Parts: sequence; structure tokens; C-alpha cells
Amino acid sequence: MGPSRNAYLDALGIDRWVPRNSPAEVAAVPEVAPPSVSASPTRAGAPVPVPTPSPSTWTPLPPTGDWGVLRERVAGCTACAELCRTRTQTVFGVGNTRAEWLVIGEAPGAEEDRQGEPFVGRAGQLLNAMLLAIGLPRETVFIANVLKCRPPANRDPKPAEVSNCLPYLSNQIALLKPKIMLAVGRIAAQNLLATDAPLARLRGKLHHFGEANTPLVITYHPAYLLRTPSDKRKA
Ligand code: URA
Repeated sequence: MGPSRNAYLDALGIDRWVPRNSPAEVAAVPEVAPPSVSASPTRAGAPVPVPTPSPSTWTPLPPTGDWGVLRERVAGCTACAELCRTRTQTVFGVGNTRAEWLVIGEAPGAEEDRQGEPFVGRAGQLLNAMLLAIGLPRETVFIANVLKCRPPANRDPKPAEVSNCLPYLSNQIALLKPKIMLAVGRIAAQNLLATDAPLARLRGKLHHFGEANTPLVITYHPAYLLRTPSDKRKA
């Protein structure tokens, strides 16, 4: 048991197990094998297709090669009547536009809607700790969501909202060209992989996304981990 693993557990707020009467606390932390990253079942065949949009009256503009233009398009988006009526502002995404890692969440929550930045609430603090624990300070990655607007009362995104908004995420991916993508939570994972498989079946494997066949890793949403700390160890 090395000090780095202990630092990792501490960063995630995971209690370390120490047998009673043992002075050797460090040696006492149980060995847990990291989830195996296996070859993707999707790798052998064609690249994972981008989800097919469900019928919508909104037609996205062709992708842009300019971050500023994309940001303005998102800020002015009116594709989803309810969301653009109820949002405070859109939440484009944040981070280093030369980042190798792209972290993708579900949708802004109340705090994100207020501040205009993804993952700034309690779940965001845990996400920052998780990233730092693997050597990635928040500023070194790019963070975005499937939806750029907050669904009222934090309800799940509707399929039409996802299909309206996915072109923005696809454009972000095309501009960033990440070396690896990390999807947190069921909604992000299922929509990126165009599957309804449960998160338990999607995490712990290496998937690939899109025409660039970008490696895609799935893990638990930090908000879920705040509710279920016993699963932090698996994440
Ligand atoms: N949850 C998400 O999925 N995204 C955020 O930006 C905040 C909370």
C-alpha cells in the first residue's frame, strides 16, 4: 500500500480501514484492485455512432471551427422552449481548450445555472477532488455537460432536449480533439454510447467514441457518490 493510494483515498473522502491494535495504519488499508480497463466491445466493429436525434423542429447549424462562435450559439440557443424560458443562463463548459481530458456530465444544476459554469456545486467539489487525485487539477481539463441548460427542478433531460443539445457537445469534441473522455453518470454515458445499458455495465471498461475513436471511460456521477459514499472506492 503506497502513500499515493492513501492520498487518493483521502482526496475522495474514503475512510481507510485500520485493524484495531495495528500500529501499521498504512499497511492496513485493504488492497482493492482498480477496475480493469478492458478492450472495448465496441472497438472491434465500427466506431460508436453518435446517437440519432429524435424528431425535432430545430435544425442545428453546421459545426463551427471557432470556440467563440460556438459559445455565442450556445448562449443564444432557443431550441428547447421550456429550458430557455427557465434557465438563468446557458452553461457552455469550462477549462483548457487544449486539454487532453474532456469530462462530460449530465446538465447544469441550480448553482451551475446561477454561476454559468459546470460542476461548481458540491458535486463539482468532489469531481475536482477526484480529478486531482489522479493528477489532473481542474484547470488542466475541459468540463462540459450533455445539456447546456438546467432542467427545471433538476429533472432528467428529455430525449428531445438531448438531441437538440448534442450537436453543441459534438462541436466541442471536434474543436477540443481530446485524447480521452470521461463521462460521469448514467445520463452522459448512455447518451454518448447510444445505449440504455445500466451504468454498472458501462463503467470499468474502455469504450470509444465517434469518428476519432476517442477513448471513453465511464464512472459514477459525483452527486451519486455524495449520496452513496460506499461506492466512492469503485470510482
Ligand atoms: N451535475 C452535472 O452533471 N453537471 C454539472 O455541471 C453539475 C452537476
